[in-house]
Amino acid sequence: MSADKQQPDFRPEFKPLSAADGKDVGGLARAATATLPLADGSVTNGRAAFERYISPLAIENRRKMGFSGGEAAYVGETLVGFIEMRGPDQISLLCVDPKYRGRGLAERLIARAASRCAALNAGGWLWPKHKKYRFMSVHAPDSALSFYERVGFVRGAPRKEVGGIASTLCRLPLPRSGGSQSGRLTARSVALFVFSGTGNTLAAARAAADGLRTYGISVSMNGMHGSPSIPADSAVGLAFPVACFSTYPTVRRFIEGLPAGEGREVFVLGTCGGFAGGMQGPLGAALRANGYRTIAAKFLKMPGNYSDTERHGDADREAIERAEAEARSFAIGMIDGSETWGRGIPLLSRMCCALGRTRLPWDFFYRMFPIKVDESLCLGKKCWRCVKICPAGAVSAMGALPSVNPKLCESCQRCVGFCPSGALFHDKRNGVRRAQYRAMSFEDFTSGR
Ligand SMILES: Cc1cc2nc3c(=O)[nH]c(=O)nc-3n(C[C@H](O)[C@H](O)[C@H](O)COP(=O)(O)O)c2cc1C
Ligand code: SF4
Ligand code: SF4
Repeated sequence: MSADKQQPDFRPEFKPLSAADGKDVGGLARAATATLPLADGSVTNGRAAFERYISPLAIENRRKMGFSGGEAAYVGETLVGFIEMRGPDQISLLCVDPKYRGRGLAERLIARAASRCAALNAGGWLWPKHKKYRFMSVHAPDSALSFYERVGFVRGAPRKEVGGIASTLCRLPLPRSGGSQSGRLTARSVALFVFSGTGNTLAAARAAADGLRTYGISVSMNGMHGSPSIPADSAVGLAFPVACFSTYPTVRRFIEGLPAGEGREVFVLGTCGGFAGGMQGPLGAALRANGYRTIAAKFLKMPGNYSDTERHGDADREAIERAEAEARSFAIGMIDGSETWGRGIPLLSRMCCALGRTRLPWDFFYRMFPIKVDESLCLGKKCWRCVKICPAGAVSAMGALPSVNPKLCESCQRCVGFCPSGALFHDKRNGVRRAQYRAMSFEDFTSGR
């Protein structure tokens, strides 16, 4: 890893090992193992057996028969390294092009393989599927033994010779998927990913970013969309609102689609109206299973953003400012190690996160508070802001007016909060139209600060 940090321009692309890599895999394995001293006293047998084992046909056959999978690393079109996984918890071939050695690539391939094993233990946000994969193992040849020990493997059995190849069984403990795990933020840069419906979370995330920058940490602000590529030496920050004691499907899908953590630090800054349901527990387990090192998670109380019968201007402003101050001190607390990542609430947190994966709560919210369009106020095609800003693609332009698809809507309130003319609203109750909420102006919301 340290060599990699010295060469920040080295950004290999990782892909699952596939048949398409086949023709290059054998050549790379041969080049990478040319100097491998095979089995004392049976060098000829050892080399011949090894050549058969690394032939593209043998690798492809193992893959087709479901014995193996793995990870391939590319620089441009060139395969520069790969790791083969035999079964869910055993690696068997770790090869790096000699030209690309000394840049931390072998360590990253191992970290990615370990993340895959750990992910099997995690299963989902509800409860673990398997608990049996506590270790990832490798039969380490003599020449690689010290490398494997350096990256955390421990010897599990005496050295043995099989088919002319000598090796020692070593095992790497996999990250625990449950419980809590906290630490100090040590990265010097943070990729902060933010989702905000009505601006509360964006205000808090900006304050946290300011806090980090005061300590010389560079922070990039990003939306939660697409598949992000995150610099190898960056920590990851996730800022989002709590919804139904978990979070919106848009946010969950983004987090689940994050690339493997490979040991990166991660923190969470959530905002809520009062009770987050302990979602840091299951979320932390899922992130650790994906190879992230959980640092700290905090949920700040901010104004509830569902349209209300009335708004409380000054009280809302004060609550936002209080949360911004807390977000700044959270940032500092991560640096000095005083912030933690809690366990959540046993069972309840998992149940809420599991419920959030279904459409039930989002259908319920919409049934309770359907979004209506006031035809007399809507600016229609002169505007279409609601169509453009909906994160779920739930608003479409139908003729002169927008139309909300209840089956896609996640009730994030963005369209209602930022409609410039107040044309989008929730149903009247007791004859009073519910007032829209936003923590900032649309210009500020979209200013990219
Ligand atoms: C559909 C919906 C569900 C919500 N569920 C919760 C919840 O379960 N617990 C809570 O404390 N606040 C809940 N809230 C309040 C928001 O989490 C809170 O107002 C948040 O700060 C909004 O952030 P934003 O302005 O960045 O979207 C909910 C809000 C909405 C719109
Ligand atoms: S944002 Fe409001 S005014 Fe603009 S198109 Fe949508 S409903 Fe009409
Ligand atoms: S329709 Fe409005 S409330 Fe529903 S997901 Fe889209 S922006 Fe959010």
